[in-house]
Amino acid sequence: MPACTPTDQSILVTGGAGFIGSHLARAVTGDSTVHILDNLTTGRRKNVPSGATLHEADIRDDAAWPQSLDLIFHEAALVSVAESTENPTTSHEINVDATLSLLEQARTQETRVVLASSAAIYGHPNETPISESHSKEPTSPYGLDKLTIDHYARLYNELYDLETIALRYFNVYGPGQVAGDYSGVISVFVDQALSGEDITVYGDGQQTRDFVFIDDVVQANRNAATTDAVGEAYNIGTGESITIRKLAELIQDITDTNSDIVHTEARAGDIDHSEADISKATEHLDYEPTVSIREGLEQTIEWYRNQHAN
Ligand SMILES: NC(=O)c1ccc[n+]([C@@H]2O[C@H](COP(=O)([O-])OP(=O)(O)OC[C@H]3O[C@@H](n4cnc5c(N)ncnc54)[C@H](O)[C@@H]3O)[C@@H](O)[C@H]2O)c1
Repeated sequence: MPACTPTDQSILVTGGAGFIGSHLARAVTGDSTVHILDNLTTGRRKNVPSGATLHEADIRDDAAWPQSLDLIFHEAALVSVAESTENPTTSHEINVDATLSLLEQARTQETRVVLASSAAIYGHPNETPISESHSKEPTSPYGLDKLTIDHYARLYNELYDLETIALRYFNVYGPGQVAGDYSGVISVFVDQALSGEDITVYGDGQQTRDFVFIDDVVQANRNAATTDAVGEAYNIGTGESITIRKLAELIQDITDTNSDIVHTEARAGDIDHSEADISKATEHLDYEPTVSIREGLEQTIEWYRNQHAN
């Protein structure tokens, strides 16, 4: 089913200069008036689509919030698990306190809020695929912060009838995701492969992850913007998983690199297996992932090649 498009609305995308937020902002700019609130910590000015208005400010600054909004896609966050572990209070301020202020502002304006939650809320899964009712024992301040705002979203719907939806993203990847210390494994592997460096897999590489392509995450957000099934949280993955070793091999194959795959020590605390049960999103959001891992990697690698060439 095609993604529903919110039209003629005033939309705020927090974190709209970042990876997911900028794709989302691009998808809705034109049909609607789009504001972006971003302090450019990990986001980039050049990601802001033309036609959208950038408000360069911190989400902790209440005064910075644009007014008279119909819809907020809340993507801004302190996204690094490692940094949240170093600085749990800062993580809480950005990820929880600022989100609570956002929900308060939305309450006064009756603005729908679609917010970015995370598979990190589940911690070490007892079983896969992981359904929304799986136990939640996050293993980092980041995961706990996301769980808290995920609960707040539901509570604001229950208590105040605010239209909220939490989308629990699994491992999102695609063009525009920048390789860095804390970014997704795909961007790191592709960067290594295109630089001719060894592709470094932690441990035996038999860990599994559910990698979801950015276009499918955009589709989920657009459908969440128009659904009647509010006050709910939905897993957003593909419902399939692959091993990290297999991922490295795929990237090696598509990039046609001379890089070797090497295994380093396993990372303490790494989750063994992750795979989303997406049946709830399929049923209530008409969410249907459309991009296979090979296809998504091809598009992503093409983008990285262009970056390397420039
Ligand atoms: N990428 C994934 O695999 C993944 C998985 C689960 C959840 N998420 C969530 O999705 C959302 C988007 O993640 P992303 O991968 O696009 O990360 P990203 O780092 O590319 O985007 C985050 C954006 O938020 C902005 N930001 C950070 N702190 C801010 C602040 N205090 N004030 C204003 N702006 C601020 C950054 O500058 C950046 O543009 C985040 O909430 C993240 O937790 C992402």
